[in-house]
Parts: sequence; C-alpha cells; structure tokens
Amino acid sequence: MPVSVLTGAGISTDSGIPDFRGPQGVWTKNPQAEATAMIDRYLADPEVRRDSWRARLEHPVWKAAPNAAHLALVDLERAGLLRALITQNIDELHQRAGSSPEKVIELHGTVHRVECLSCDLITPMPEVLARVEAGEADPPCPRCGGIQKSNTISFGQNLKPEVLEAAVRAARSCEVFVAVGTSLTVHPAAGLCGQALDSGARLVIVNAEPTPYDRFADQVVGEPIGRALPALVQELIDAAR
Ligand SMILES: NC(=O)c1ccc[n+]([C@@H]2O[C@H](COP(=O)([O-])OP(=O)(O)OC[C@H]3O[C@@H](n4cnc5c(N)ncnc54)[C@H](O)[C@@H]3O)[C@@H](O)[C@H]2O)c1
Ligand SMILES: [Zn+2]
Repeated sequence: MPVSVLTGAGISTDSGIPDFRGPQGVWTKNPQAEATAMIDRYLADPEVRRDSWRARLEHPVWKAAPNAAHLALVDLERAGLLRALITQNIDELHQRAGSSPEKVIELHGTVHRVECLSCDLITPMPEVLARVEAGEADPPCPRCGGIQKSNTISFGQNLKPEVLEAAVRAARSCEVFVAVGTSLTVHPAAGLCGQALDSGARLVIVNAEPTPYDRFADQVVGEPIGRALPALVQELIDAAR
C-alpha cells in the first residue's frame, strides 16, 4: 500500500518553528510580514534584504529538533510503505529525523543553503550567516557580487520544474495521500491533493484547522499532529500487515 505524504509548517510547530497561518502563525500575528516574502520586494529593497538576513540569523530552525510526527514518518518508511515524502517545509527536519534524502521532495527548497540569484552559486547557510554576524548586513555572492537569498521559493518565484514533476508523480502513484499540517492554500502544493484524488488515491488530512480539501477527503483528523500522526501511521502499518 504505497503512501505519499505532503507536510506543511504545522508538522514543525511542536519543534518550536511557528507556522504562517495558524493561530500563532507569523503572518496571523504580523500580516505585513507576508509582503516581505515576495521576490520582487526582496530584489528591489535593500532594507527588506537586511531584515531577511537578520531574521535568518535568529530563525528558530537552528535550535529545532525533530518531533514525534517527523519520527512517525520515519517508521512509515521503515515499514516499506512510503512512496515519497513531499514537504513544503524548508527546515530539513524530516532528514534530521532519519527520513532518507531520496524520499524527501522539498517543494520550497531549504533554508540550510544560500543561493546567488545572479549566478546560481549554492553555499552553506552557516558560512553566510557568519558574514552577517561579522557585520555584512546583506552579504553579496563571493563569486559574482550578486544578491543572495536562502535557497527557498519566495512568492513570485516558480517551483523547480523537476521537483514539482517528482511530487506530481508521487501524488499520482500512491494508494493513500496524507496531507499533514498544511492549510492547503499555497499552490501548486495544495493541488497535489487533487492529483492524488484524480488518480484514485484515498485522501487523509491531518490538520487542526479546516482546509479547502476537507470535503474531498476520506478522513479528516483535527487532533494535534504530535499525537494524531503517530496513531495514523500505526493504523496504516497494521492495515498493510
Ligand atoms: N517549518 C518550516 O519549514 C516552515 C514554517 C513556516 C512556514 N513555512 C513555509 O510557509 C508556507 C506555509 O504553508 P503551510 O500550508 O505549510 O502552512 P500554514 O501556516 O499555511 O498552515 C499550517 C497549518 O497547520 C496547522 N497546525 C499547526 N500546528 C498544528 C498542530 N500541532 N496540530 C495540528 N495542526 C497544526 C494550522 O492550523 C494551519 O492550518 C509553506 O510553503 C512553507 O514553505 C515553512
Ligand atoms: Zn553569484
């Protein structure tokens, strides 16, 4: 019974990383913050870039550890049931928990790397954060002098086509599609639920708040993810025996 999983920010809130749109979300509390996530603002405004680098320096991800929900998905893989683990998260907590990197499809990239927006040079985030700490408020690319950003997809940037294609293949080739901790409002990620349904998969949603896909789901679990996901994974493993 191949299972594909789509995770969102809600799976990492128990690890101390706030989501965007939940009750304690970064954008719920500060709606202006959403505008600074637009790529054209980032490119046009040095102050947005300086703020972004400071925010990266203080990001809770550097102190975060995987939680019970991340570990449950490692169990799902070890039971031989995981087709793919598609994530909108940029925190790498799935890999840190022990999920195989080749199973993890990072739709929105990772904050653990830095990308030059001119020459595409990729460097490790800690190297660049060290420059920020040493006083470079907006550190340019060491190769070409271009503007750098975390290697994540901002609003207004397209997803990498090969990454999206892998996610679509995973959604279309599973028997069960589980969406966890995502408001299912960001496209094309949310549309993967529709792709899975079109291909005949069962849709299971684990999220505290309602989502636009709830009415198409076979099962909606509104309990806290840290408890609900380990229980669901155990059910899937038992059902496959
Ligand atoms: N950890 C991260 O990497 C991280 C954190 C914040 C935002 N993001 C990015 O921002 C975008 C946000 O979209 P999204 O749909 O992933 O997140 P979102 O903020 O839109 O939605 C998160 C959902 O999770 C639910 N939730 C939060 N904690 C929960 C818990 N413990 N139990 C049950 N439900 C819980 C909330 O009710 C909310 O509906 C993504 O594209 C992602 O790239 C990533
Ligand atoms: Zn460069």
